[in-house]
Amino acid sequence: MKDYQDFLDEILISTEVLEKRIIELAEEISMDYKGKNLHLICILRGGVLFLADLMRHITVPHTIDFMAVSSYGVGARRTTGQVRIALDLKEDISNRDVLLVEDIVDSGYTIASVLDILATRHPKSLKVCTLLDKVARREVNVPIHYRGFAIPDQFVFGYGLDIDEYYRNLPFIGTVDSNRYEPQD
Ligand code: PRP
Repeated sequence: MKDYQDFLDEILISTEVLEKRIIELAEEISMDYKGKNLHLICILRGGVLFLADLMRHITVPHTIDFMAVSSYGVGARRTTGQVRIALDLKEDISNRDVLLVEDIVDSGYTIASVLDILATRHPKSLKVCTLLDKVARREVNVPIHYRGFAIPDQFVFGYGLDIDEYYRNLPFIGTVDSNRYEPQD
């Protein structure tokens, strides 16, 4: 894998800006879920860094679980529609106040399918928190209750989001200069 500096176009959201916004979201969630049975569900894999930082700043008692879904092959960048469950939740969600934690909503298919699946399991409430919202790419309407940032239609990576599976560890969100990056197959 090339050094990311070779194809980084710009830092779209810096570490400092991410941190500040995540603290704000955590404060809002902590107020809204006071006295409730908050259960965070992270959609793997992109959401892991966001979940870890968000939960560090949530001040109400809560539990977590993980779910993985897949809609297209490794390395592909476009979604095709319905998703399938690749890894299901460990715990029952009935009577819990579920908050889905995602790194990005793009076409909306992933979150729409997950909402459909989870709604059949009778949670007490079911809401969505996404760090990034690529509004211009939306193909299906989805409710977003907590949104970190609306971003333009650019290919982004870092802070959980991969570029050909690499660089999820970067502490910022960067954009790719497509003239300087050849997708791996
Ligand atoms: C990404 C992202 C969301 C989904 C958003 O996941 O984490 O789950 O795509 O796209 P959509 O709104 O068009 O459905 P991806 O399938 O790339 O898996 P990953 O999180 O393991 O990278």
